[in-house]
Amino acid sequence: MLQSEAVERLVAAARSARERARAPYSNFSVGAAVICADGRIFEGCNIENASYGLTICAERVALFCAVAAGCRDIDAIAIAGPGGEPLSPCGACRQVMLELAPGAQVIMAGDPAPRIRTVEQLLPEAFGNPAPGGTGAA
Ligand code: THU
Repeated sequence: MLQSEAVERLVAAARSARERARAPYSNFSVGAAVICADGRIFEGCNIENASYGLTICAERVALFCAVAAGCRDIDAIAIAGPGGEPLSPCGACRQVMLELAPGAQVIMAGDPAPRIRTVEQLLPEAFGNPAPGGTGAA
């Protein structure tokens, strides 16, 4: 569990990443920030494409940046959307969180308070690694 000061710091990082969103098609800017067990923070924003399906969400950008930098232990991810209502991550991002950050706290920035969930709460009865010894199908 992140302390409230760390939650605020991660939310601030997500909000700052949001300012770098590239969202010319939806005009819906999103920022995300992950914190790793070693304290490193990686930020992401949504990046849209004229071929809409190639758009990537802020959460996955932040998670992929962390993994690409060698982080294999992610403690939390904060997400910041427009307005004060907490932004709930899409299904694709939940599936990626399950794989890359299964134990992470998911902090949805909000005013006056963030909503905080576990990945398991957001994606119950998930499909996991089906390989022998994996976490998925029997
Ligand atoms: N988006 C995110 O970046 N994260 C979410 O959790 C929901 C949606 C982006 C994708 C797209 O660029 C825009 O928001 C509208 O769906």
